[in-house]
Amino acid sequence: MQTSDLINVFFYKDVYLMISINIFYDDYHFIATHCIIALIYNLSTMKKSHKKRATLLILLLALIATQSLQAQPKWNAPKEADNLKNPYAGNTTVLKEGKQLYTANCAPCHGSKGRGDGPAAAALNPKPADHSSDIVQKETDGSLFWKISEGHNPMPEYKLALTDNQRWELVNYIRTLAKNPKK
Ligand code: HEC
Repeated sequence: MQTSDLINVFFYKDVYLMISINIFYDDYHFIATHCIIALIYNLSTMKKSHKKRATLLILLLALIATQSLQAQPKWNAPKEADNLKNPYAGNTTVLKEGKQLYTANCAPCHGSKGRGDGPAAAALNPKPADHSSDIVQKETDGSLFWKISEGHNPMPEYKLALTDNQRWELVNYIRTLAKNPKK
């Protein structure tokens, strides 16, 4: 397929087809971004009248791309999780073990400082949570414990791989990663 054919595809009904197919597959952020890149790439070689339409289309696609990102449902633990009791509440002696577990199991995605920037993070969607952020730190111990236990694709579940105590140690360790520690 030549570049000019590609441009024609964008300007006729196929673009609607493409958008609807990808809404169906729930992957329209990916496709919209790629359409934008293709359009921008071809912009300089277009006829004037096409340029105008291409710019409009870029704006429309950008809107779709940002909407689809926001549409991603937030991952919430069930309310009952807040009532789970942390057997290590206020215990700092488990932090050493917590750190070891974190480095071995979590840092590849979440990064050694928990910023969500581990070596595997770039390839993941959604991105690994930033454990130093207020959003994560404001959650209850029980909610964090529940999330570590259950996982959420692409994050694996740890309820079988790690013991209850190990998962609570990780909760305590995550608290030490806070950007704005509680006083
Ligand atoms: C394969 C990559 C990967 C690994 C390994 C991983 N995570 Fe995650 N984690 C993620 C992703 C991605 C998310 C965001 C999921 C979402 O928002 O749907 C996440 C989210 C979380 C959250 C939820 C944050 C919030 O408040 O919503 C916690 C807590 C968490 N991870 C802890 C851990 C711990 C502890 C480990 C190690 C035992 C770990 N993760 C290992 C990828 C990973």
